Amino acid sequence: MHRSFFALALASAAITPAFAQADVIGSGVSPSAAAYSQTRPINFATTAPTSGALVILMRNATLPSNVVDAATAQAVNAAIASAKFEGKEGSSLSLRGIGSYSRILLSGVGEEGDHVTHIRNASGKAAQDLRDEVQPVTITGSLNHDEAASAALGYAMGQYRFDRYKTVDRKAPPTNPVTIVSSDAGSAEALWKSRHASLAEGVALSRDLASEPANVIYPETFVERVRVAFGNTANVKIEVLDEPMMRKLGMGSLVGVGQGSRRPSRLMIVEYRGAGDGAPLAMVGKGITFDTGGISLKPGAGMWEMKADMSGAANIMGAVLSLAKSKAQVNVIGVAALSENMPGGNAQRPGDVVRTMSGKTIEILNTDAEGRLVLADANEYVVANKKPGALVNMATLTGAIVGALNDEYAGLFSRDDRLAAAVTAAGTATGEDVWRMPLHKNYLNDMKSDIADIKNVVEGGRPGAGLGATFVGFFVDKNVPWAHLDIAGVNWADKAGPVTPKGASGWGVLLLDALARNWK
Ligand code: BES
Ligand code: MN
Ligand code: ZN
Repeated sequence: MHRSFFALALASAAITPAFAQADVIGSGVSPSAAAYSQTRPINFATTAPTSGALVILMRNATLPSNVVDAATAQAVNAAIASAKFEGKEGSSLSLRGIGSYSRILLSGVGEEGDHVTHIRNASGKAAQDLRDEVQPVTITGSLNHDEAASAALGYAMGQYRFDRYKTVDRKAPPTNPVTIVSSDAGSAEALWKSRHASLAEGVALSRDLASEPANVIYPETFVERVRVAFGNTANVKIEVLDEPMMRKLGMGSLVGVGQGSRRPSRLMIVEYRGAGDGAPLAMVGKGITFDTGGISLKPGAGMWEMKADMSGAANIMGAVLSLAKSKAQVNVIGVAALSENMPGGNAQRPGDVVRTMSGKTIEILNTDAEGRLVLADANEYVVANKKPGALVNMATLTGAIVGALNDEYAGLFSRDDRLAAAVTAAGTATGEDVWRMPLHKNYLNDMKSDIADIKNVVEGGRPGAGLGATFVGFFVDKNVPWAHLDIAGVNWADKAGPVTPKGASGWGVLLLDALARNWK
């Protein structure tokens, strides 16, 4: 009797292995079987069809010549006059019932500033205005090849959508093509394919990673997604350190942040060499796949946004993807410092002391200042192992930078004026603007710990962005030009921008791509 019962239990265990339950983290049920939405393919042509939706990019109130026939031009000009449309940057005018078009959308470029960026923005705005337009779309406006390729980039960025979790009343995204008209369509298409399309891909990768909830993207799946995005792109080498490896290297600061989570930490290193064996530009990103604050728990309101606390790492992977796919003649190393910051029985506590790879000790007074902790080890690792010519950090590091600069600028902190100038120039050129903030030498004194080398916060509510930056810089060799971008105010768009639908912005992919191309 006893025996047979035992045998039966064993047999059923073999069919339904109850012990496998222990391996399931979370529910084990994926929230979606749906793939990402398709988007409109982008084409180039020298002439515009006379049907579908027509977008005319306008610098002022004057229609560019030869974009529509005379009768259509007359009707559009009447509408322009009646609506007092001036072609101002960000303005638009939607017209229906003219000629053979399903609609005509005038999108303002404006006359000031960097023309090509404004073309990109006007096209991105049009893509958002035409989100539910099912007809094919044509974009025109006397565009040369450079402007046409930028219009394509703007459209690609503006049409981004993240709707794979919608199952009720889900609108099928329009997949009719968008055609960009240029007298030099051949060169425009060549420029798009060789360069801008990769940028758009990098931005989309970053936005996907940041938009995905934390039950889908955690350190291991971040790594998997990035691997898939790179496929077997030439001259790319991917290394991933798991927790046992990081422990062996003494990375107590990074591993400590993830110790309260069932999801183990990772350090992902993606190296792209497109320029022989010169010293690479290292880009090291904060990759906190969810930031609860840990034992120093955050308040509940708005905590969900901390699923995007890996935006720095996501942007860096997007930029490296763009550089590698477009075969840029640069050497870069992208590093993602990946952890989930959770409370729990094994979580680190306020007051804990941890040690980094190089042997520096940190007293953790607030477990919510965790981004700096993962960056400390990641920075030491890349400097010790990759001999970079410069190092740039990107992180959603502090709420204080949001208060200081809002969503208009990222905060730039740097010990190196030449690198700071290059970062600023890359920001201006791409429309991803930065504002330089100070690193006062007293900040480091303020962070002296009573029992360790440094503490991770200064108690008493001192302004945090400069202190956070100072902490991060403490773990970077003084001989390596270093800059840090605090993107906590710009990584998430609460309202749509010209090339940024509401949600994860991917802010920083364009900047880092431009910086890598121009940094010598
Ligand atoms: N991820 C947050 C910073 C953040 C705040 C990003 C708001 C985006 C929006 C970071 O880990 C954090 O919690 N920082 C603390 C630091 C403090 C404990 C010194 C902060 O800014 O409050
Ligand atoms: Mn935090
Ligand atoms: Zn954080």
